[in-house]
Amino acid sequence: MIPTVRPRRLRTSPAMRRLSAETRLHPAELILPVFVREGIDAPRPISAMPGVVQHTLDSVRRAASEAAEVGLGGIMLFGVPETRDATGSAADDPDGILNVATRAVVSEVGDALVVQTDLCLDEFTDHGHCGVLGAGGGVDNDTTLERYRSIAVAQAEAGSVMLGLSGMMDGQVAAVRDALDAAGHRDTAVLAYSAKYASAFYGPFREAVDSQLGTDPSIAGDRQGYQQDPANRREGVREAELDIAEGADVVMVKPAMSFLDVLSDVASVSPVPVWAYQVSGEAAMIEAAAANGWIDRRRVIEESVIGIKRAGADAILSYFATEIAGWIR
Ligand code: PBG
Repeated sequence: MIPTVRPRRLRTSPAMRRLSAETRLHPAELILPVFVREGIDAPRPISAMPGVVQHTLDSVRRAASEAAEVGLGGIMLFGVPETRDATGSAADDPDGILNVATRAVVSEVGDALVVQTDLCLDEFTDHGHCGVLGAGGGVDNDTTLERYRSIAVAQAEAGSVMLGLSGMMDGQVAAVRDALDAAGHRDTAVLAYSAKYASAFYGPFREAVDSQLGTDPSIAGDRQGYQQDPANRREGVREAELDIAEGADVVMVKPAMSFLDVLSDVASVSPVPVWAYQVSGEAAMIEAAAANGWIDRRRVIEESVIGIKRAGADAILSYFATEIAGWIR
């Protein structure tokens, strides 16, 4: 019998396929993560992230204005300081690289882009952990919250309008919200990296921020004491719900591609926007396979990001953001 039900009818031409697409990407849903390094006078390539650099203050301004030109939704700034210490004191120093870079980017793009900053300690501590260490050598949750409160106010004062809380300390959203409100920064938004997994896909990020994690044998060389176990799905929803209850304006799932089930679960229950982060190792895999001629780079990038959106992301952080926007605009 010849079938009469033919789903292929909706695939017969580019026009029909375009009309039938269930998911579309818009540049405004893309956010570009960038690294700014203190004390360099030319951008430095990151070997595991072809095309991504550690920016100077000048080159990050150019990257930001290019991002604004192609219509991206936002930019996420990471700082790479020249000197580090046990408490990450450069993070809340107004002259610390991330705060200086924030002022530079805001003065370049104004509010043509939502200028966001990573609020964490790993880029700033000499041991490389996302918090301060307690007596036993582990990361002390509540002492770290005191540091985050102070960093939040410093970042808001530098002009960041959305703080990306990526440290995975319990209670960090409530602590930062309270500190911001107390300092009069009621409109500064909180992006909670809610379901953030202890992932090997952050590998190239270590080079990007020159992280010292794992070099001191007396301290755990991984983040499994605070980031989530990749085996856990339900826990991702729990973390997001806690952050929403604490006042998160946006919640995020990270990494993206290995955690699409978690992303979908969080998206189905969240009353606030849900974002996803296509992290350094995800980008690196695509670049490496493409460089070998094993995959079609552009099609894989587009497919990866549309997949993340389809799973439930309202916006996506991607190192490919500016390039993708150039393709789909
Ligand atoms: C923590 C932070 C990390 C990333 C973003 N924020 C590293 C980590 O948690 O180990 C990783 C991003 C990426 O791999 O692209 N400040």
